[in-house]
Order: sequence, then structure tokens, then C-alpha cells
Amino acid sequence: MKRFVKIALLTATLGVSAAAVPAQADEAGDNAAVQSRQHMMAGLGGAMGTLGCYMKGECNLPKGVVHLLAEGIAYSASTGHDVFKPETPAATEKTEAKADIWANWDDFAGHFPKLEENALKLADVAGDKAAMGPIMAEMGKSCKGCHDDYRSK
Ligand code: HEC
Repeated sequence: MKRFVKIALLTATLGVSAAAVPAQADEAGDNAAVQSRQHMMAGLGGAMGTLGCYMKGECNLPKGVVHLLAEGIAYSASTGHDVFKPETPAATEKTEAKADIWANWDDFAGHFPKLEENALKLADVAGDKAAMGPIMAEMGKSCKGCHDDYRSK
């Protein structure tokens, strides 16, 4: 009898831990995915903020830096599809990503190529503020257009 109880307990313990492992793995994996996309976005925010400061003449940047900031945005945008692809239902990290992203995936992911294209155009005219202005405005629309639909605040 004693022996039976021990085995039953052991089985129960193993059962619980076997069930707990995938759940924990999902949580850690989902949290990492949330952090990846947030850091990618924070990079976009930093680059756009610095370019905005440059456009207003509030800070001076060498042309090469402006060029690289624009290329950085283009590169980040090109990773958007893969960075946002994993759904993160088990995440405990705070996230502003709406579930609609994965329900309307093509519409959501479709915002990234336009942003990439414009950022590459911006890189081409780095230093020429008159040419940069309208492209920056288009890029701002990409950010806002997506955030309005898919980011909760
Ligand atoms: C295709 C949609 C999409 C586009 C385009 C987009 N964003 Fe985002 N952004 C999001 C989503 C969704 C989040 C919320 C992510 C989360 O919290 O998991 C976000 C979050 C952010 C954040 C907060 C990051 C953090 O630290 O939590 C910043 C800053 C940001 N975006 C800036 C930008 C800028 C600047 C652009 C344009 C250059 C841009 N985004 C373009 C979807 C987009």
C-alpha cells in the first residue's frame, strides 16, 4: 500500500512537471518575442526622433549619420514580418500589441514594405532636407497608420 502511494505520488509529480515544462517554455519564449518586437520598435522610435530633431534644425548631424539612421529604419522594417510573426498568448511581459495583428496578418504586415521603401528613398537623399521632408511625412504615416489599428495605448 505504502509503495502504491509512493508510485502514485511520483506519477502525479512527473505528470505535473511534464505539463509545466511546455507552459514555462511558452512563457519564456513569448516574453522574449515581446521584448524583441518592442526593442525593434524602440529602435525605430529613436531613429525617427533623431531624424525629426535634425529636420527641425534642433540638432546637427553629419550626412553619413542621417544616411545610416534611414538605412537602419529600412532594415528594421524589413525584419518586421518575422519579428511580429510569433503570437504571444503566454507572455507575462506587458505588451501593447493587439490580437488583431494576427487576425489581420496580411494587412498588418503589409505596412512594413512601404516603410522600408520610403526609408531607402530617405537614405538616398540624406542631407537634402527639402527632399527628405515629404518622405519623412510618408514614413510618419506608416508608423501612425499601423499604431492606430494595432497598438493599444
Ligand atoms: C506594421 C505595424 C507597425 C509599424 C509600421 C510601426 N509600428 Fe511601432 N509598434 C507596433 C506595435 C504593434 C507596437 C506594440 C508592440 C508591443 O508592445 O508588443 C509598436 C510599438 C512601438 C513603440 C514602443 C516600443 C516599446 O518600447 O514598447 C515605438 C517607440 C514605436 N512602435 C515606434 C514606431 C515608429 C517610429 C514607426 C515608424 C518609423 C513604427 N513604430 C512603425 C506596430 C508598428
